[in-house]
Amino acid sequence: MKIAIAFVLLFSLLAVSSTAEKFDFFYLVQQWPGSFCDTRQGCCFPDAGKPAADFGIHGLWPNYAKCRGSQLQGLARAVLGEDAAALFSAVGRRGRCWPEYCNDGNTLSPWEIRDLVASLDRNWPTLSCKSGRSFEFWSYEWKKHGTCSNLEQHEYFARALELKAAHNLTAILAGAGIVPSNTETYSLSSVGDAIAQGTGFTANLECNRDADGEAQLFQVYLCVDREVKQLIDCPLSMRSKCTDRVKLPVF
Ligand SMILES: *[C@@H]1O[C@H](CO)[C@@H](O)[C@H](O)[C@H]1NC(C)=O
Repeated sequence: MKIAIAFVLLFSLLAVSSTAEKFDFFYLVQQWPGSFCDTRQGCCFPDAGKPAADFGIHGLWPNYAKCRGSQLQGLARAVLGEDAAALFSAVGRRGRCWPEYCNDGNTLSPWEIRDLVASLDRNWPTLSCKSGRSFEFWSYEWKKHGTCSNLEQHEYFARALELKAAHNLTAILAGAGIVPSNTETYSLSSVGDAIAQGTGFTANLECNRDADGEAQLFQVYLCVDREVKQLIDCPLSMRSKCTDRVKLPVF
């Protein structure tokens, strides 16, 4: 009997320690639909129709404050020494900067998020031409990032929607005179400053290129504490393809 209890305790300890994913913060990534579409590939509208000219959620992504080398790299370093390990990483073994695909068996259930679908259609639409079904986009984001978030399905999507509503990027930028235009360019620092002033925290900005090769604001990464309660200053900067002046194309 004592042995049985000891086993149960041991296994529940193991279960707890292996299921709680350890990471440092979240990125709430939002994309400007005008910039998603204004590229050489273009875009497609989802089943719910053309989205509003508003930032849309791309995902809520758990992230490490410091990238980790892959286990293979660690092993190579231990066995072969630094030089060989560097060679190894040069052939494409990238370190892990975030956890992903933490539980492939945990697939998104339409039933779990049924009360959120109307809001998700407005705020988290797909613009990809692959399926055109926003539910597939949500399922993919859940599988890749959500299963590592330590949140239940409903909470994961509800929190992302709440955070987006609490910090309306479209309105924040418009308040600083940064409005969609096919001719105007804006200084990157004015975009960053407007978001820092409007939210109270520094964000990361990512650009892409339009068909003429001009840089446009594509995604804004707001950083969120690991309890998904409040924004924080982004702890990492990122390579972003932005130039000093960027466009915000009409959608
Ligand atoms: C964000 O602000 C824009 C511009 O003021 C507005 O059109 C839009 O409805 C707002 N979005 C949400 C989710 O409140």
